[in-house]
Amino acid sequence: MGQPHEGDEAGDRSGTGSDKPALGVGMVGYAFMGAAHSQGWRTAGHVFDLPLRPVLAAVCGRDATAVRTAADQLGWAAAETDWRALIARDDVDIVDICTPGDSHAEIALAALAAGKHVLCEKPLANTVGEAEAMAEAARAAGDRGQVAMVGFNYRRLPAAALARTMVAEGRIGHLRHVRVTYLQDWLVDPQFPLTWRLRKESAGSGALGDLGAHIVDLAQYLAGEPVVGVSALTETFVRERPLPTGASVGLSASAGGHLGPVTVDDAALFTGRFGSGALASFEATRYATGRKNSLRIELNGEEGSLAFDLERLNELSYYDGTEPGTRAGFRRILVTEPDHPYLEAWWPPGHGLGYEHTFVHQARDLVHAIAEGGRPLPSFADGLQVQRVLAAVEESAAKNSVYTPTAS
Ligand SMILES: NC(=O)c1ccc[n+]([C@@H]2O[C@H](COP(=O)([O-])OP(=O)(O)OC[C@H]3O[C@@H](n4cnc5c(N)ncnc54)[C@H](O)[C@@H]3O)[C@@H](O)[C@H]2O)c1
Repeated sequence: MGQPHEGDEAGDRSGTGSDKPALGVGMVGYAFMGAAHSQGWRTAGHVFDLPLRPVLAAVCGRDATAVRTAADQLGWAAAETDWRALIARDDVDIVDICTPGDSHAEIALAALAAGKHVLCEKPLANTVGEAEAMAEAARAAGDRGQVAMVGFNYRRLPAAALARTMVAEGRIGHLRHVRVTYLQDWLVDPQFPLTWRLRKESAGSGALGDLGAHIVDLAQYLAGEPVVGVSALTETFVRERPLPTGASVGLSASAGGHLGPVTVDDAALFTGRFGSGALASFEATRYATGRKNSLRIELNGEEGSLAFDLERLNELSYYDGTEPGTRAGFRRILVTEPDHPYLEAWWPPGHGLGYEHTFVHQARDLVHAIAEGGRPLPSFADGLQVQRVLAAVEESAAKNSVYTPTAS
């Protein structure tokens, strides 16, 4: 297994606390998530007192010039053009996968087989079969002391982590409802090009696997239990789009003249059932005009409710149903106190955090797990379970919304 090693040139330049053993990071993909993860790895050891010193050892992309430029911009010591070479490097202890879903399984399986720790972006894979193989490999690797985690970064928002703690403490009582929406609008224009996110062979599914995976994970994390079955509708509103010219980055790309078929869903709506009997509703779309990255979740229990809105990510709304009716009401908890999750190392109360901090927290949690022999969550088994919910959604949608149990 790749062991933390003493500092080298890259470590001295990228890490902090030179007395600490280095943890060499190798990242595949350097666009949207690559930039976000780079920021996480660069920052975590400078903010939190970590047991190991993350070192940005090498980044991988397929174009030699572009990946070298990205390495310099994002702070990586070396650049590789083949992910196999990245995995084989002695100075890489953890492989961080920031590529589209069609390469997650192959890279993760090879990295685990090579004895490396793995962080894999969501969704874990494009199919349940791939996710099963990854979860099994991660389980076996875990027995050898390796760590594998999925990048469901919204769990690492302080307000979401606080909400989880409050649910686990029984602050809303027996759960009845989870209501969650994840809305974007970057596909409203029918001329937006046919990037990898709109092709089944590269993305697995559309809004479902992209946004739906996040909200299924978040709902299950906050509820503390899995979705056991769903009834679903999916739709592809625009069935042909212009082919892209050149590479896309994140949600941006430019369009050429020729059209190609969209082979994924544009929107997914589904209801779900938890084992406890609680009901959930989910909506994931790229056609919610005016909604840029709107993720809202509300949980209603017998004794209270919690609500979170990603556009106000330093806040958590809480209704305490045990208070006298004359005094009760939703109250806003400003989640910036040093005792709140992840906040001990950041700014004074009231000086809020943002989206990018989730990736710093993700790196922090992984470093602790690796140093302390922990099994960080969400595990690949958790990623597989989300994948099974997504598969049940697709199956239900194909059968006119018939209720479809989640495979186990
Ligand atoms: N956690 C989140 O909030 C979040 C947000 C966006 C995307 N994602 C996930 O992150 C992953 C990447 O998405 P993105 O938005 O960064 O995509 P992107 O298009 O911006 O970047 C993809 C990168 O992967 C590289 N790449 C593709 N195939 C490769 C290969 N075989 N070898 C080496 N490099 C390869 C591309 O060159 C590019 O650098 C996806 O799984 C996506 O679902 C997660």
